[in-house]
Amino acid sequence: MALGHFLTDKSPEKRQISMQDRVYNFSAGPAVLPLPALKKAQEELLCLPGAGCSVLEVSHRSKQFEAIIDAAEANIRKLLGIPDNYRVLFLQGGALLQFAMIPMNILGDKSADYFVTGTWSKTAGGEAKLVGKTNVIWDGSDTKFTHTPKSGEYTVNSDAGYCYMTSNETIQGVQWQSLPETGNVSLVCDASSDVFCKPVDVSKYGIYFACAQKNAGPAGVTMVIIRDDLVEKSPDILPKMLNYKVLAEGKSMVNTPPCFAVYMLKLVTDWLLDDVGGLDKMYERNVEKAQLLYDAIDNSGGFYRGHAVKENRSIMNVPFVLPSEDLTKKFLEEAKSHKLTQLSGHRSVGGCRASIYNAMPPEGVLALRDFMLAFAKQNG
Ligand SMILES: Cc1ncc(COP(=O)(O)O)c(C=O)c1O
Repeated sequence: MALGHFLTDKSPEKRQISMQDRVYNFSAGPAVLPLPALKKAQEELLCLPGAGCSVLEVSHRSKQFEAIIDAAEANIRKLLGIPDNYRVLFLQGGALLQFAMIPMNILGDKSADYFVTGTWSKTAGGEAKLVGKTNVIWDGSDTKFTHTPKSGEYTVNSDAGYCYMTSNETIQGVQWQSLPETGNVSLVCDASSDVFCKPVDVSKYGIYFACAQKNAGPAGVTMVIIRDDLVEKSPDILPKMLNYKVLAEGKSMVNTPPCFAVYMLKLVTDWLLDDVGGLDKMYERNVEKAQLLYDAIDNSGGFYRGHAVKENRSIMNVPFVLPSEDLTKKFLEEAKSHKLTQLSGHRSVGGCRASIYNAMPPEGVLALRDFMLAFAKQNG
């Protein structure tokens, strides 16, 4: 049978429909991806150049996949300016597995200090407690997680195994604006929902990690950027797939890596470098986008209310509430008919949440802003 048989596209009109059907998707994750990255993946899905088959079908030991994973790492190093004494690992198990792997690998018999600034850092502390000793050095739960601590409101224990923070609390929309002072204690940061949203100084962290499915690619891969001396701490008794040292020595290929997710991560970081022009540019765009929504909230006469205090407002996740549950339901339904989707707040906090990650185009945020203004006018 001729190969052409398998390539026959019997429904060309379907492609048209799927593009027209695309909405502005404000999901917190898995989330919107840049169109150029999706288009490139679509273009290469039948045949990866030089491979004769797709990235879904090629061996992870092939030179084509090695080129992809090397390019993904090179892109990440370039975007974040990662120093040479850091390793970049591509791991599975999501960010949640890192909550346990971090203490398993680097804590030893010390105690770890945790900043509890929202749901994710609280969860991380809970997982770490199953593995070793932890110490909550600041907890924002009394004020329902609206802000991060100011200097002077916490003390990092000088003998702590590490100090842990979540740079952006995805659910509460609370983002640190400057790093805590940790002295000689290694800072460990979960940047799952704000990696690549602005430039960072990786040398300030011992570990900087992020799952991909919010701001960097699809679900399935988690980037772990870790300083060499911390890689060396992994105890030999740890199973291979939980051991940073083994995973680093195996170049993230101790077993089959999540090939497609790594490939998409490479395409998204290509977009950040080549189309956006780097993280300074991305940051400028993100600040402008976020300002549109926060202005709509602030100027609504109390119809919309945000969650975080102004100084800690996230430029990635914008949670807000309306005056009643009925209005929230109406808002979400009407928004959908304007092609503005996945705006429900997290089930633990209710209300609405607009996640406006890097790939959300400014037009999408403008459309949401205009809808918010019109809805408040009609229903306020
Ligand atoms: C800040 C943060 N950390 C961790 C996680 C958990 O990530 P995963 O689902 O990849 O385990 C999330 C996911 O929503 C998150 O927003």
